[in-house]
Amino acid sequence: MTKLPLLMTIMIVIASPLTGCSLKQYFVENQPTAPSKNVVDTAGLKNEKKSVSVVANPSAIPVLVNKVNKLPASYQPSDLVDPDIPFIFKAKVEKRKMRSSAAQAIEKLFIGAKHDGVSLLGVSAYRSHAAQIAVFNHYVSVDGLKAAKTYSAVPGTSEHETGLAIDVTGGDGKCAAEDCFAGTSAAKWLEKHADEYGFIIRYPKGKEDITGYQYEPWHLRYVGKKVAQDIMSKKITLEEYLETIQVNK
Ligand code: DAL
Ligand code: ZN
Repeated sequence: MTKLPLLMTIMIVIASPLTGCSLKQYFVENQPTAPSKNVVDTAGLKNEKKSVSVVANPSAIPVLVNKVNKLPASYQPSDLVDPDIPFIFKAKVEKRKMRSSAAQAIEKLFIGAKHDGVSLLGVSAYRSHAAQIAVFNHYVSVDGLKAAKTYSAVPGTSEHETGLAIDVTGGDGKCAAEDCFAGTSAAKWLEKHADEYGFIIRYPKGKEDITGYQYEPWHLRYVGKKVAQDIMSKKITLEEYLETIQVNK
């Protein structure tokens, strides 16, 4: 990244909480509507097909990536590192990685949880575009396209491709990215404390019509502490925070 876009990003992120609307202006108005060949079938949503925009600044920490805002085809985070946290697997593989600021924050979150007597394990963090294609195609083969789209992101629209998201589970490794994680002590701790470390529960219960996804108490998205605390204290989604179009309405 050149110095100018980096500076612009910092200015936007710093200015947004003060102005209340600059993030929306930046992330929505600067996102050109994709040509029709890029329109993705949004089966699984109540609405008809919607055009999908390409996000203008995919490396911005509060970037909105969802069913109607996708990453540029060539995007790869430039600062991926291995956070020093335990995962449910031992292999040193790509899905351990997160962007540097998110990795530092998840390390602190795991330490904070441990301090409160809650053990956590990472399940899956960064996914390259190729990995997301493999994951998504797997679920389509298992459940069909429409059902798969309620819980798995079309390649290019997954937060896992940003390096800012991680799925976690409790220390026993059970219920990894499964519905039975809801209501566990780990899930309750995350709901209460994730924002203190800059993370949000990205797909909350009762907000499926806005996010377009089922409740995922395990999917943490790093947005930075100020934004996370605003979102979690108001019990809103990133979509609502950024005052963008609502995916499903
Ligand atoms: N499970 C989330 C929506 C993803 O595939 O990115
Ligand atoms: Zn996830």
